[in-house]
Amino acid sequence: MATESFTLRWGILATGFIAEMFTRDLLTNTASREVTDVTHKLVAVASSKEAQKASDFIKKVDGPAEAKAYGSYAELVNDPDVDIIYVATPHSHHFQNTMLALHAGKHVLCEKALTVTADQARRLVETAREKNLFLMEAVWTRHQPLSKKVRELVAAGEIGPVSRVFADISFNNLAGEDGKLYHADSSRSVNLDLAGGALLDLGVYALTWVFQVLYHIQPEADKEKPEVVAALNKYHTGSDDSTAIILRFPKHNTLAVATTSMRTATDPSDKGLVPAVRIQGAKGEIQVGNPAFRPDDYRIIRKDGGGEVETVKYSPPVDDARGGWGQGFYWQADEAARCIRDGKIESSVMPLDESIAIMEVVDAALQQGGVAYPDHITSTEYDPQNPLNTGKA
Ligand SMILES: NC(=O)c1ccc[n+]([C@@H]2O[C@H](COP(=O)([O-])OP(=O)(O)OC[C@H]3O[C@@H](n4cnc5c(N)ncnc54)[C@H](OP(=O)(O)O)[C@@H]3O)[C@@H](O)[C@H]2O)c1
Repeated sequence: MATESFTLRWGILATGFIAEMFTRDLLTNTASREVTDVTHKLVAVASSKEAQKASDFIKKVDGPAEAKAYGSYAELVNDPDVDIIYVATPHSHHFQNTMLALHAGKHVLCEKALTVTADQARRLVETAREKNLFLMEAVWTRHQPLSKKVRELVAAGEIGPVSRVFADISFNNLAGEDGKLYHADSSRSVNLDLAGGALLDLGVYALTWVFQVLYHIQPEADKEKPEVVAALNKYHTGSDDSTAIILRFPKHNTLAVATTSMRTATDPSDKGLVPAVRIQGAKGEIQVGNPAFRPDDYRIIRKDGGGEVETVKYSPPVDDARGGWGQGFYWQADEAARCIRDGKIESSVMPLDESIAIMEVVDAALQQGGVAYPDHITSTEYDPQNPLNTGKA
């Protein structure tokens, strides 16, 4: 007997770039990726500016005619037809926007980086647990089948005990050869008021690979937080444009180097010539393709393999009925739906304590490099009567 599929009802908070990418994925038919136990419904979208912007967004993504358009985040989180809020604002806004949703009794999927500081992440996690609500950082990479496969290979000892990981995520998108700037100083990529900077925007993906391999797959009792040594270069706005972090997990005798840059690229050819991640074990190495946030392949090079390289390719299934759309953001939505269906308030794929542990590494690196974000975006104060960063305050 076929069991009925569980439907999760979504509210999208913000109408920018990633909100569009994610919502388009949400609207694909789950059957196109052979998922039958959960489905998703777009119930409402909110813009902090005006309802028309939300309404235009719904049309642009070809959303359902009955989807509601709100001109404030407060209206969205108070919609009784919405189960979960997807927070897609700049990092600077995640703490206040997620608190707004949690205080309205809504589950939350919040874009990465979860917050600006580890203290804020801890406060969000405490609040979600107190209120018995689901919360997950939207690190889509974690839920992709390729990541799952690589975690399994490493855990099964395919390349022997791992002693070192290199992970990079870099795009040469700050300035052209002529020195012309691609990002205005006000852009969320470099603006301190919007928690700009390479580490919070991109570097968290390099860290997620380090953590997936050297932390996540360890038995709970063996998990250890790393020692951190970091160096960074700053852009003229004060945010980091290139950051290098060395992590040491002393109990396990493992080391990692996580790097990110807006001045140079992981693979300048963009043709798969350079891996984004190298996982090095006693019996060989797994190389994960570029870009680290959604690699399309991995390869295994074995010590006794005589130079043979085993390459395995992955690409996200697409929905032909929606113009061949499908980017791989939907796996995290499916995970959220299954957790909520099963009454779980956190995902074992992207656990909350691990998001906090990663934010602690980010804190340490930014502090060592002297990047200071303004108080109004690092505060852990939340006033339900006067939430900040909703666009209305
Ligand atoms: N998973 C990924 O691959 C991926 C990729 C890109 C970005 N991201 C993450 O997604 C988040 C948003 O990035 P994005 O590229 O979508 O940014 P974006 O295009 O600038 O959109 C951000 C949206 O946030 C809202 N917002 C509210 N107050 C704002 C303010 N003061 N300044 C700017 N925007 C404000 C705006 O929507 P309204 O006007 O409708 O309120 C805006 O459209 C970030 O946390 C980023 O790290 C993830």
